[in-house]
Order: sequence, then structure tokens, then C-alpha cells
Amino acid sequence: MRVTIADHPLITHKLTVLRDKNTSSPVFRQLVEELVTLLAYEATREVRTESVEIETPVTATTGLKLSKPKPIIVPVLRAGLGMLEGIIKLLPTAQVGFLGIKRDEETLQPYTYANRLPEDLNGRQVYIIDPMLATGGTLIDSIDYVLERGATDVTAICLIGAPEGVEAVRKHVADRKVSLVLGALDEKLNEVGYIVPGLGDAGDRLYGSVN
Ligand code: URA
Repeated sequence: MRVTIADHPLITHKLTVLRDKNTSSPVFRQLVEELVTLLAYEATREVRTESVEIETPVTATTGLKLSKPKPIIVPVLRAGLGMLEGIIKLLPTAQVGFLGIKRDEETLQPYTYANRLPEDLNGRQVYIIDPMLATGGTLIDSIDYVLERGATDVTAICLIGAPEGVEAVRKHVADRKVSLVLGALDEKLNEVGYIVPGLGDAGDRLYGSVN
């Protein structure tokens, strides 16, 4: 599995504001959107294209356009939804599917409670978006879900990852074509499965606590 950790001062600056517990929800949402656009630029480096003949006002030339089948973006509910606008800006013609995976707060094990994805993802390039890669359980389930439906090329985009989660995903996907793009690789997970230093609960900070 190829892992890319974005190394850019703008990304680190925006992540620093995002991590600050005093950052308000509206600013947090805005920053998540901006960060995803920056990370998606890196993550789509190998998006499939085909050549196309066009005419500029000056001459005929050959360019590139995204090829079919269109890529599909899969936000993992609920926090992944906060990342959707930022990537749609770069891939406005992409299809969007939804996957609802939640982790049990006691066992930390994920379970799927909703899905709205095409049954057949044969040959599709899939971009999974989820802000926090903690234990890796949710991402592993999401990756398995799309690979089982025929996806051949999967890229996960996360704002922050923990080393434990990255290793779990790496081990699980083995030699399948899966890439991971992170805004930052943090220090560790704490005893209740939060990323340290992290940013707390991404879903709560985007949308408020549901409890
Ligand atoms: N999910 C979050 O939202 N934050 C973490 O630190 C870990 C999982």
C-alpha cells in the first residue's frame, strides 16, 4: 500500500488551526473543506484520463480529459460528509456513494449501518473519505466493501492518521491496489482509541455532539 503524507506548510498550518480546541464549528468545517481540496489534488494524481482532440482559437491540439467510468467518491458517514464538498470541487463529474460505518465505543469494532453505493463497482476508481484513521477498523471495512463490489483501484483520503491504524490497513490490504493519502501522521492512539494529539471527535466538531 502506498502511503503519502502531505508535506506542505499550508496543510500543516490549516491542520494546526483545526486541532485547536477553541476553533469554532463553522471555521472547522471550512478548514476541513480546504484541506480536502489540497489532499485530493495529491490523491488524484493517478485518476484515469484519455486523450481528446480539441481546437483552441489558435490551433488543433491534443489534451486529456477524465475517462469513463467516472470515479466514485465514498464519504464514510458521518464525519466523511464534511469532506465531500472539498473533493467534489476537484472532481465535479464524479459519482458519490455513501457508507455508514460506526464504531462501537466499547469494543472499538466498526459496524455498517447504512450504504448507498452501486452494487457493481467493476473497474471503478474509488476515493474513500474519512477524516480520522484511528484503529483502521472503519477504513478496512470500507475498503473491503468496495473491493468486494469490483473496485480495482482504491484511494483513502484522511486528514490525520495514527501509526497503529496505518499499519493495520497496510497489513490487511496486502498487495491489493490501495493507496492512502494523509494530511499528518500523528503519534499514537490513546487508551480510548482517540488519536494523540489529534483533534478530538471529528464528527462532533463538524456537526455537534449527538449525545
Ligand atoms: N475518530 C475521531 O473522530 N477522532 C479520533 O481521534 C479517533 C477516531
